[in-house]
Amino acid sequence: MPAFSASAPGKIILFGEHAVVYSRPAIAVPVQQVQARAIVIPDPLAPRGRVWIQAPDINLDCAAGELSEESPLRKLIQILQAHFQIDHLPACILRVSSTIPVAAGLGSGAAISVACLRALSAFLGAPLAVEHVSALAYEIEKIYHGTPSGIDNTVVAYDRPVYFVHGQPIEFLSVRQPFTLVIGDTGRRSSTSGPVGALRQAWLANSPPYEALFDRACEIARSARSDLEAGTLSRLGSLMDENHALLVQMGVSSPELDRLVAAARAAGASGAKLSGGGWGGNMIALVEPELAEQVSTALLESGATHTLITQVRP
Ligand code: PMV
Repeated sequence: MPAFSASAPGKIILFGEHAVVYSRPAIAVPVQQVQARAIVIPDPLAPRGRVWIQAPDINLDCAAGELSEESPLRKLIQILQAHFQIDHLPACILRVSSTIPVAAGLGSGAAISVACLRALSAFLGAPLAVEHVSALAYEIEKIYHGTPSGIDNTVVAYDRPVYFVHGQPIEFLSVRQPFTLVIGDTGRRSSTSGPVGALRQAWLANSPPYEALFDRACEIARSARSDLEAGTLSRLGSLMDENHALLVQMGVSSPELDRLVAAARAAGASGAKLSGGGWGGNMIALVEPELAEQVSTALLESGATHTLITQVRP
């Protein structure tokens, strides 16, 4: 009996996280070195409609119906059934694995959703088009945090660099000149909902200073876009540094992130910033390729639990 498999990459946000929740633009790119994978194996001898979930990374080995109502995987199956207007899926085993660290700003939740939606819809004989994959993954993102901008599901589903503005047609970004990033993991797990929620409370209490920060982040994302499209990278590092300073003022950085950002700069990075939700997770540093190892070593010496060197390509 055939199995149906699909995978989806991780992602990083180059510019504009958090401001993007408030309708400013952000730039995100896929990261191929880390992937989520889903395999669906038909299980015709199992009771009707039973979906058995195997996700060893998070110690899950049970029927989907036994998961809590709030479980994203359970929700994903419900959303898929509603989309196809069916009461249940044919019995199957859904195997989920991922090399994307969870709650680290690398889009793990979106990538797992995208991989599962693709594999399950192929199993149903009706592979979803990419815009539906992204739209359904967005519904699931809402479980992770209430007010997602939609950038994660978009960049992961389309697997291309995006210039993203919530509620507007997707704009893909053509990166003219390849560049190298070092990604450093603080090792501190932080779910996106924490900093997103805290920033919302602060914004509700006193919006003008935050609106000013979001406006500046918007200008930075616009400048970065024109530089990336023109292939002129000389200013990109300082734009990252400035974006990080704004994120600090938004209250979404952490001592660990600030330490890694400083260490990357001291080791020769052209610029560095946190990436994603913040309070933990990952930071990124822009480097000349020959300095990548040196910056990576400096990050590890400054407490990073893990680093990745990645090239963003046209
Ligand atoms: O999922 P993360 O941690 O990469 O964060 C997503 C980026 C935010 O702007 C913080 C939230 C959002 O919905 O855009």
